[in-house]
This record gives sequence, structure tokens and C-alpha cells, in this order.
Amino acid sequence: MQHASRAVISNQTGPHEDVGRRVARALEHPLRKPLADHNRRAFEQADQWLQSQAAPLILDAGCGVGLSTRRLAQRFPEHAVIGVDRSADRLGRDHGAVPDNACLVRADLVDFWRLALDAGWAPQRHFLLYPNPYPKAAHLKMRWHGHPVLPALLALGGHLDLRSNWSIYVQEFAQAVAQVTGQSADIACHDPHDDYLTPFEAKYARSGQTLWRLTVALESR
Ligand SMILES: C[S@@+](CC[C@H](N)C(=O)[O-])C[C@H]1O[C@@H](n2cnc3c(N)ncnc32)[C@H](O)[C@@H]1O
Repeated sequence: MQHASRAVISNQTGPHEDVGRRVARALEHPLRKPLADHNRRAFEQADQWLQSQAAPLILDAGCGVGLSTRRLAQRFPEHAVIGVDRSADRLGRDHGAVPDNACLVRADLVDFWRLALDAGWAPQRHFLLYPNPYPKAAHLKMRWHGHPVLPALLALGGHLDLRSNWSIYVQEFAQAVAQVTGQSADIACHDPHDDYLTPFEAKYARSGQTLWRLTVALESR
């Protein structure tokens, strides 16, 4: 049984005033943090699997237990769906067989996105489903749009679908997308109609929270 979930509590009442500065810094100083060997190995395996599929890629970034990866693979049978999460515990939970056109990878996205970009990956769709909000104002740098990896994640291109139960996260992300790419993302309320893509989506929706969805068709760079 899932417990009711409380709405995000934050000391922010609107978008953080430092988003623009963080994004400018990420653009000026591309992330040079060394890549961890285990992330390289995980990426190489994923890359081999992707080549064996010879199908357009869908990336499910921060897939948690991988339910969304399985569902996306069923929804898009002509695509190869890769779910990435750093938590072995979450990935290891039993949520049924993984379809042939899906693959779950344990890796840190900060490395995985950069490796994917270097390898020329071009996901057709890229899902960021309910990323950790890090709602304290002091933690802006831990949100994906406040992190130096942001330009790499956006440079991968494709149709980006970001969902959150915190509207401020989505607004800030849209601001960052505009700053990096000059593109305007769409933001809308998201009603899953009881057809949940992820456990967090189910938990938030069943608790009566509003879900937010940002979409943008990123031009490849
Ligand atoms: C709030 S959970 C959402 C999981 C899933 N998308 C869902 O909606 O049920 C956020 C997930 O992002 C993963 N995550 C956070 N930072 C990550 C990173 N740097 N690399 C890979 N996964 C990360 C966490 O392990 C966690 O599973």
C-alpha cells in the first residue's frame, strides 16, 4: 500500500533568482569532472545493446524502479528504451520482466549523459520523470537545471518530457531551456487519467497533487 504524499514544501515562493547565473556558469565552464570507470563500463554495455537493437532511442533518465521504462517499451515497440538510474536498490526491485526492447542501466546520469553525447547518441524522446526536486533554495545547484551537466543533457536533443509535482521546478527548467537553446518549452498540467507511467506519478496523483509537464522538441546541436 502506498502512503499519501505531501506536496513539496520549499522556502521558495517562485523561481530562484540565481537560475540565470547558474546556467550561464554551466555554459561558460563545461563540466570537466572525471568520468567514473563504472559509469564508463555501464555506458559501453548500454551502447552495445543499443547497437544490437538498431532502433530509435528513448531515454528514461532517473527511471527509479524502471516501471516507466517497461511501459514506454510497450507503448513504443519500434523503439529501444534505455532506463538509467544510480540506485541499484531501486533497479533491483521486482517489477516484472523487462521487454526485449528495453534495458535498465545502473549509472550516474552526470557521467552517462556526457558519454552519450560524446558517442553521438540522439534520443528521439527523452523522459525526466519526477526528478528529485531539492526544494530548499540553497540546493538549486542539485536540480538538473542548476547543475553543470545541463548543457550536455539538452544537447542530446529529442522530444523532452519533464514531469514534476512542483511547478517551480518546471518553470525554472523552462527558463534554463530558453537560456541554453533559445527555445520555448510548453508547460501544462498533466492528468494521467489513472494510467500512471511511474510510481511517483501514481503516488502524487492519488494524493490529489497537481502534476506538471514540460515538453519541448529540442533541436539537435
Ligand atoms: C524521485 S525518484 C523518481 C523515479 C521515477 N522516475 C519515478 O517517477 O517513479 C528520482 C530518481 O532519480 C534517481 N537519480 C537521482 N540523481 C541521479 C543521478 N545523478 N544519476 C542517476 N539517477 C539519479 C534516483 O535514484 C531516483 O530513483
